Amino acid sequence: MTEPVVPPVSGPTVRPRRLRTTPALRRMVAETSLEARQLVLPVFVREGLDAPRPIGSMPGVVQHTRGSLLKAVTEAAELGLGGVMLFGIPSTKDAVGSGAIDPAGILNVAIADVVAEVGDAITVMSDLCLDEFTDHGHCGVLTADGKVDNDRTLAAYAEMGLAHAAAGVDMVGPSGMMDGQVRVIREALDAAQHTDVSILAYSAKYASAFFGPFREAVDSSLVGDRRTYQQDPGNAVEGVRETLLDVAEGADIVMVKPALAYLDVIRRVRDAVDVPVAAYNVSGEFAMLEAAAANGWIDREPAILETLTSIRRAGADIVLTYWAAEAARLLPRR
Ligand code: PBG
Repeated sequence: MTEPVVPPVSGPTVRPRRLRTTPALRRMVAETSLEARQLVLPVFVREGLDAPRPIGSMPGVVQHTRGSLLKAVTEAAELGLGGVMLFGIPSTKDAVGSGAIDPAGILNVAIADVVAEVGDAITVMSDLCLDEFTDHGHCGVLTADGKVDNDRTLAAYAEMGLAHAAAGVDMVGPSGMMDGQVRVIREALDAAQHTDVSILAYSAKYASAFFGPFREAVDSSLVGDRRTYQQDPGNAVEGVRETLLDVAEGADIVMVKPALAYLDVIRRVRDAVDVPVAAYNVSGEFAMLEAAAANGWIDREPAILETLTSIRRAGADIVLTYWAAEAARLLPRR
């Protein structure tokens, strides 16, 4: 004889599950949105390429030719993405990164190409840093004894900002973590009447192992590490300090980078400033998920959307991600 199931005397009166009953209800109470306009696609353009070149450690991501870059940016605009972040890879590099400032340098010509192609349809942003252009791979110029020279680098950044602005960029993204970089770039832009060019500052940027695949993406020849200018991964208070300095120096948007291992820093920064906060879902974060998916260990598309939603939930208004175009295509289906 089986015992009859006895209902409990009283069930819970408070039932959070009630609001999860139907897709419509779940949609209504969703706290975090993910929309194409919040996503920025980083793109790489390489000087002298005949055809797009795949980046082995970043499946589906390529170094673009000047022509294929325009197709990618046009598609990004059609998808309603917030922006594109341009990275240039010159065919020759030198100690001071001359190609970064040369108006005929790859990044400067690519900015002009893109702006001519898409106009105001999407925000055109540029990585403002020397590391893609220097033969030693550091983000600045070096002193005679091989240290990164903060203040001489600032002068180069100011010139680079002027070159990007002359090419028509909407927003520059100084990513070299030199002290005072936002201020010198803002002053240089303003002195040249580029008062409308805005600055997305890589403010809390950590010396991270998750930049690994990016080094292949930009053919970086870095010897050593960036720990004298990028932050120690254990420091969150310092991330807020760096961010507040950038806001005081005139940053229009601040950024935390990487994103996933630094979700707490994103939240602290969001609570500390009154400008939009961006986060960069970097190459190593991308590669990890892609590698797991390629092995059948993770369900790729839901994992991508969950990743991006988590970065938004942590407090990022804007997310830079190599999945931007794909995520924008996936979104209406949710
Ligand atoms: C510096 C820069 C880097 C990245 C973006 N801008 C490399 C670095 O600081 O070492 C990394 C982006 C990524 O890993 O996706 N120009």
